[in-house]
Amino acid sequence: MISSFFRIVILSFCLWGGDIALISAQNLRSPNKVMELKFQLDTIGKPGFDFFAEGLPIVKGASLGFALAKDKDFSSGFKVDSIRQGEYKGSWNTVWGEQRQILDHHHLMMVHLSQNSQGTVRRLDIEFRLFNDGLGFRYIFPRGGNNGHFTVLEERTRLPLQQDYEAYWMPGDFDSNEYPYTRSRLSRIQALKVGEDTGLDYRYLVHDSMVQTPMLLISDQGYYMAIHEAALRHYPAMNLTVDRQQFILNTSLVPDALGNKAYLEDGDKTPWRVLLYARKAADLLTNRVILNLNEPSVLENADYIRPGKFIGVWWEMHVGKSQWQYWDRKGSGNPGDWQPVTNHGAHTANVKRHIDFAAKHGFPYVLVEGWNKGWENWYGIWKERIFSFTKPYPDFDLDDIHKHAKSKNVKLIMHHETSGAVTDYERQLDSSLALMQRYPYAGIKGGYVGRIIPRGEHHDGQWMVDHYERLAFKLSREGLTVDLHEPVRPTGLHRTYPNWWTNEAARGNEFNAWSKGNPPEHETILPFTRLLGGPMDYTPGIFQIKMNAYGKEKKEQVHTTLAKQLALYVTMYSPLQMAADLIENYEKMPEPFQFIKDVPTDWDTTLVLGAEPGDFIYMARKGRDSEDWFVGAITDEQERIFEFEPSFLLPNRKYNMFLYRDGDQAHWESDPMNYKIIKKTIRSNELIRVRLAPGGGCAIHFAPAGQKRNR
Ligand code: NOJ
Ligand code: CA
Repeated sequence: MISSFFRIVILSFCLWGGDIALISAQNLRSPNKVMELKFQLDTIGKPGFDFFAEGLPIVKGASLGFALAKDKDFSSGFKVDSIRQGEYKGSWNTVWGEQRQILDHHHLMMVHLSQNSQGTVRRLDIEFRLFNDGLGFRYIFPRGGNNGHFTVLEERTRLPLQQDYEAYWMPGDFDSNEYPYTRSRLSRIQALKVGEDTGLDYRYLVHDSMVQTPMLLISDQGYYMAIHEAALRHYPAMNLTVDRQQFILNTSLVPDALGNKAYLEDGDKTPWRVLLYARKAADLLTNRVILNLNEPSVLENADYIRPGKFIGVWWEMHVGKSQWQYWDRKGSGNPGDWQPVTNHGAHTANVKRHIDFAAKHGFPYVLVEGWNKGWENWYGIWKERIFSFTKPYPDFDLDDIHKHAKSKNVKLIMHHETSGAVTDYERQLDSSLALMQRYPYAGIKGGYVGRIIPRGEHHDGQWMVDHYERLAFKLSREGLTVDLHEPVRPTGLHRTYPNWWTNEAARGNEFNAWSKGNPPEHETILPFTRLLGGPMDYTPGIFQIKMNAYGKEKKEQVHTTLAKQLALYVTMYSPLQMAADLIENYEKMPEPFQFIKDVPTDWDTTLVLGAEPGDFIYMARKGRDSEDWFVGAITDEQERIFEFEPSFLLPNRKYNMFLYRDGDQAHWESDPMNYKIIKKTIRSNELIRVRLAPGGGCAIHFAPAGQKRNR
C-alpha cells in the first residue's frame, strides 16, 4: 500500500528581533525533531543557515548564492518575499534495489528571495528538505524570475563545519574518480602528487585542498556524516575546496572549456546539496535520503530491466591472456600490412563458449569487449574517428553469435569504449542503436577512458553530465540498459532512470589486475562513500587471486581472499553484477562458484549487522520474491571474528545454511585462495561464529529447508 500525504503551511517570514546581524530567520525541524535548520538572511541580504543534529552544531554561518556572469553577485542584497513550510510523508516502490519500498518523510521549507538591482528585480528560491537522517537543499531559478539565460561563474555555497573531522576523501580531479581513499583530518587534506597512486598513465588535474564527493566525515563525538549531492542534472559536479584552518567547505564546480561553470535559465534547478547524518556508521548504509531527493522514474516501461548477473570476454584482456585488438600494427605501419594478432579475445568461438557457459549456469547476459574496430590504436590518443560502434572485427560474426545467443536465451551487452571522443560517439549512436535493436542486445557498457572531446570539457562538467543523461534517456526509449565506466560519480539518478542501473565511477577490481591495486580496506570504504550515490559495477568474483598464474613475471594480485570476493556480492550493491573471472577458473572451482550462481542482485530487505568504514561491513539481505537470505561479511587487513544470530530468519523454521569462509590459514597475501565451505541446517536463534582472515570475508546463503532446488 502506498500512502502519502503532503501538507504545506504558508507562513509569512518573521523579523528576528533578537540578533541585529540578521534581518530574517526561520527554523525547520526534522519530523523526529532531532535535526534543526535555521535559515537566516543577514544585514547585507546574504542567505545562509545554521544546522544542528541532536543539539550539536554541524554547520554554522553557511552562506548561499552565486556569482553570475557580467559581474552579477547573486549571493547578497536579497530580501525574503515569503517562506513556506510543509511536511511530506509517503513511500514508493523501487523498480529494483536494496529494498522493495522506501519511506520518504521530511519537512520542507521553500524560501522565496528577490534582489533589486537598480530597479530590476530578480528572484531566487532555496528549497530545504530535512529528513530524520539528512538534509538536502537546492537552488531554484523560478520561471519568470527575470534572470533569463545566464552563466554561472561560481556557486558560492559555503559550509563552515564546526570541527576538524576525520575524513575519507579522494582528490579533486575533474576527470577521474579512480583513486583509493585517504583517511585524514580535514586539516591534513592535501593534493596527491600528479602521477602518484592511480596506476594510470593518462593524468588529469588534481587540485590542492580540493576533494570530491561523497566525502565521509567522522566526528570526535562519534557521529558520522557524508557530504554529497543528489540529482546531478544539467549542472557540473560539485567538488569541495577545504579551508584547512577553519574547516570550511567551499563549493568548487567543475568548469567547462572556457572556465565557466554552468549555463542555465529561469526554470532550472541545481542538484541537491546533501548532508547525511548517522549516530552509527551502519545506519549510513541504509540511508535513502539521496534516492528520495531524486525524481521518480521517467520510464514509460520498465519491464525490460531485469536485474541479473553477467560474465564477459573481459578479464582475460585485463590479465593479458588475450587482447582487445584484432590487428597487430607492427610492420610498415600501413593498415594494409597489418597482421591479425594471435590472441584476439572477442572471436566468434570464444564468444559462443561464453554464451554456452552463461546458459548452463543461469546468467542472462554476456559482455564482449574488443568486438569493434578501433582497439589497435586508441589509448591516450586524443582524437575522434578512432572507434566504430557498428563495425565488428572480421572474426566477430554478429549473425552467428546472436543466433546462438538467442537459441540459449542469453543476451549480449554491447561495449562502447569512447576513449573520451564523445562527439564522435554521439554521431554514431543512432546507427549503433539500430544495430543493437536488430539482434537485439540487452544494453551497453560504456566507457570514457581518456580526455574528453569537445576538448577542454571534463568528465564531470555540465556538458558531460548532460551527455550521460541524454544517453540514459535515449537508451531507455529503446528498451536498453546502461552501465557506464569512467562517468561522473552517481547521485541517485537510477531512481529516475532505472535502466541506467549501474556505473563504475570509482576504483574497481580491475586495478588489481594491472596496478598496485586496491588496499584490503578499499571495499569497506566504498559503501560509505561512492555507493551512497548509487550501485557500482565493481566486477567482483575473482577466484584466481594472483596474476602470476598468467605469466611468471606478474607481481599483481587481488588484495582479498577468495571468500571475500564472494561476500562482495552482498556488501557491494548492483542490480547488474559481474562474475568477473575467467570462466575456466569457475569451471575449476565449481563449489565456491555456486554462491555466485545463487546470490540475487535484487533485494526485498537489507539489514546492516555491523559496519565501520575502513574496517568491516557485515550485511544481510533477503532476495526479492524469495524466502532466501544472504549474508556478506568483509574485513580490511585485520583478522576479525564475525559473530551473529540470524534472527532475521523465520522462527521455528529450519534453514539449510551454505557458508563460504576463509580457510584456517587463509590470508589475502600469503594464502588467499584457501577457503572452506560448510553446509548445515540452522535455526534463527543459533549463534554463528566465523573467522575472517586478514583481507578476508565470508558469504552465507540461508535457504528454507525442505524446498526443492536445483543445486
Ligand atoms: C576501463 C574500464 O573500467 C574497463 O572495464 C574496460 O575494460 C576498459 N576501460 C576498456 O574499455
Ligand atoms: Ca575504469
